[in-house]
Amino acid sequence: MIAVGTATSTTGPVISLVGAARVYDLGHVQVAALVDATFAVERGEFVAILGPSGSGKSTLLNIIGCLDRPTAGQYLLTGTSVAELDDDDLARLRSRTIGFVFQSYNLLPRTSALENVATPLLYQGVGRRERHERAVAALERLGLGDRLTHEPSELSGGQQQRVALARALVTDPAVILADEPTGNLDSASGAEVIALLRELHGAGRTLVLVTHDPDVADHADRLVHVRDGRVAA
Ligand SMILES: Nc1ncnc2c1ncn2[C@@H]1O[C@H](COP(=O)(O)OP(=O)(O)OP(=O)(O)O)[C@@H](O)[C@H]1O
Ligand SMILES: [Mg+2]
Repeated sequence: MIAVGTATSTTGPVISLVGAARVYDLGHVQVAALVDATFAVERGEFVAILGPSGSGKSTLLNIIGCLDRPTAGQYLLTGTSVAELDDDDLARLRSRTIGFVFQSYNLLPRTSALENVATPLLYQGVGRRERHERAVAALERLGLGDRLTHEPSELSGGQQQRVALARALVTDPAVILADEPTGNLDSASGAEVIALLRELHGAGRTLVLVTHDPDVADHADRLVHVRDGRVAA
């Protein structure tokens, strides 16, 4: 059932920022991490966000992923203004629309790869057996079929990154957001992840990736540059 206020639109851009800003208020100092950002992503587009360290890329992706809200301006996700949703409705919209890969993975510690990947399905009310099957399939797809019971501390950095990717993909989201998805991978694993992302793009998913990796950026439909908190499409 779709709650009032979270109805989604199937026309128009899937992501639309209008004059969006994010100021971090540290009391003694204010950091303008994102300044007057206006940009849209159409359904099915593959966009790569590029920019120097500290320019505001993760801040922008966190807003797009509804992990944070703009301090000024507007953000519309599938036509819904996130400012008008309470935290529960926003979490619901996020859960059924977005798969998110964090720059630092954010896996649950002391929890197996399998349980980490299955957790988003639990929030969607998927039954135990199906959760298990889908989580196994997602991990196998990322080449981790032999690491199901390993906890994050028992996995390499690149393996943790692939668990984070599997967790983002297990719900088959329309929008995939990833912060440096190949940042910690060797070239062979990186090439596999790029092939997977291209396959998802080919299947109509919308992709927005922060990346320093020219091999990832090469496959994007469009590059968006961020510098000093400003977005230049
Ligand atoms: N929670 C926070 N509180 C205060 N300032 C922050 C916070 N998060 C980020 N910043 C500041 O906002 C600016 C943008 O940070 P952000 O993490 O978006 O950069 P980035 O482009 O993702 O960098 P990197 O490529 O190093 O990951 C930086 O100057 C950073 O110091
Ligand atoms: Mg970052």
